[in-house]
Amino acid sequence: MGLAGIVGALGGSFAGSVPRAASFDSTLSFPEIAHGRDETHRVPPGYDAQVLLRWGDPILPGAPNFVPGKPSAEAQALQFGYDNDFLAFMPLPRGSSSSTNGLLCVNHERCTAQLMWPGMQAHNYRRLMRMEHCAHEMAAQGFSVVEIRRQTDEWKVVTASRYHRRISAQRTLMTISGPAAGHVRMQTNADPTGTRVIGTLNNCAGGVTPWGTVLTCEENIHLYFTGDPTAQPDPAALKRYGFGGDPIYVWGHYFDRFNMDKEPNEPNRFGWVVEIDPYDPQSTPVKRTALGRIKHEGATVVVSQDGRIVVYTGDDERFEYLYKFVSDGKFVRDNAAANRELLNKGTLYVARFEANGRMRWLPMVYGQGPLTAANGFACQADVLIEARRAADLLGATTLDRPEDVETHPGTGAVYVVLTNNHLRTPDQLNPANPRPFNKWGQIIELNPPRVNGTADHTADEFTWEFFLLAGNPSDAVQSARYAGPVSKNGWLACPDNVAFDPRGRIWIATDGQDDVAGLADSLYAADTTGPGRGSTRLFFNAPRGAEVCGPCFTPDGSTLFVAVQHPADEPNSTYAHPSTRWPDFKANMPPRPSVLAITKRGGGEVGS
Ligand code: FEO
Ligand code: CA
Ligand code: CA
Repeated sequence: MGLAGIVGALGGSFAGSVPRAASFDSTLSFPEIAHGRDETHRVPPGYDAQVLLRWGDPILPGAPNFVPGKPSAEAQALQFGYDNDFLAFMPLPRGSSSSTNGLLCVNHERCTAQLMWPGMQAHNYRRLMRMEHCAHEMAAQGFSVVEIRRQTDEWKVVTASRYHRRISAQRTLMTISGPAAGHVRMQTNADPTGTRVIGTLNNCAGGVTPWGTVLTCEENIHLYFTGDPTAQPDPAALKRYGFGGDPIYVWGHYFDRFNMDKEPNEPNRFGWVVEIDPYDPQSTPVKRTALGRIKHEGATVVVSQDGRIVVYTGDDERFEYLYKFVSDGKFVRDNAAANRELLNKGTLYVARFEANGRMRWLPMVYGQGPLTAANGFACQADVLIEARRAADLLGATTLDRPEDVETHPGTGAVYVVLTNNHLRTPDQLNPANPRPFNKWGQIIELNPPRVNGTADHTADEFTWEFFLLAGNPSDAVQSARYAGPVSKNGWLACPDNVAFDPRGRIWIATDGQDDVAGLADSLYAADTTGPGRGSTRLFFNAPRGAEVCGPCFTPDGSTLFVAVQHPADEPNSTYAHPSTRWPDFKANMPPRPSVLAITKRGGGEVGS
């Protein structure tokens, strides 16, 4: 059965279900590049891509220059971290709309030992990692704040800026706030209060608040803890988040808190959204437990029509769910102290998609429905710490890896990006996930109801439709569909992070095109409204082995920042023999995850 049949049978909806023939209308005027896969990145003719920040670049005072191959947590703690992901450009001065001076806020999600250290391979690095390697990795993850300035046509890191900051898994003290703060399941030997934790890890995507802070999201927390989950007080709770197996990181061999046999509650202190004030380098980051504990991809903040704050967040794993948080309080401009409390009190919801183009948000409130003592929930903290189990009981809709969620700055539509799910079988289809063995992913557009013409993101019921079902439309097996026609290079697979430019056009970054189509991961752009709606065009190719992350525009759209994550991360690619030495291409220099600043030669908006 083709997609039309699948969607028809399930009652799902698709905007413009008959693509307009032969029209490639678009407000985007860049010359489209070609699908491909090679050792370096590609941008269209007429564009420049400057390597702005590389793994190991000195950031803080006293930072040494990058020395490849030698673990040093002390050096790394002062340098730009590994595997840049989410990017936010926060203008300077605070509250301005500068597009030439600002704080680039960067997540550092992960590490790949065999590309960082000589002598290691994917199959043996766990055995070879010593304490200094683990400490270095802990310093390499987390977050960076870097002041940057554009002079003439070039972006530069500002020397000795007072804003420069590194936040890591190793050193940075954070507070825990909201309903789960202080709960007995959050208490450890080092923190009997359950309100303070060292560090953040696996920081994937994020968001920006209207009060000028940045949200960074803890994603694959299960990869960090050694020990035996079945020997802990609540094995089922650990299993639901995937703890156990063979963790990627062996920090627990040297640091007791990452060994659940020694600190059974430490896993509960990760999987949260963390709020950071980049404008105050002395500020203490805060883990906001009211937003739930899941493998957060990102956290997208919008002010709803009545002033309440809504945060959308996806749980990036196959068959997981889409959530939103609605604050009790209202955003008041220029009342920073009150705004800081908005993410502590409110209601978390999880999404259920219906076949009639409607969807419901199900409240996750202790004492309501199945979220009671009969099911093991004694308070709201339990609901939040075990948000996945609570969502299971509420009957939420399983999705094909919910990654980024972004709200359109003009229409208020909410774009939910599902990367893929090759494990979904034909008997597991649902309206929002109509393709079995889905290797290509889809983007769903949610439409909140309108109140006086403004989107009401707080509403219990939205409508929805597909924006695209990714894949190659000329391959009938894939049943790919786009809201508009696409060129032979314009189709995409495995959408992950998205951003909107100042004109409201969507930019879609991919994660996994190499696996499913032998193509580099890439960045595509499309109109969201008008005749060019949904006609995706290829703008950027990453170097081989890399994923494209964190697309982010300056307020005027003249610079597009892109994070190139894990270059050369491919089978059999190692420190000594990487599949690319991007971006330096020097002998003995390993591949380095880096941030690019992409501009149009001669100036003007990127894409136009
Ligand atoms: Fe860290 Fe879901 O990508
Ligand atoms: Ca991601
Ligand atoms: Ca990803």
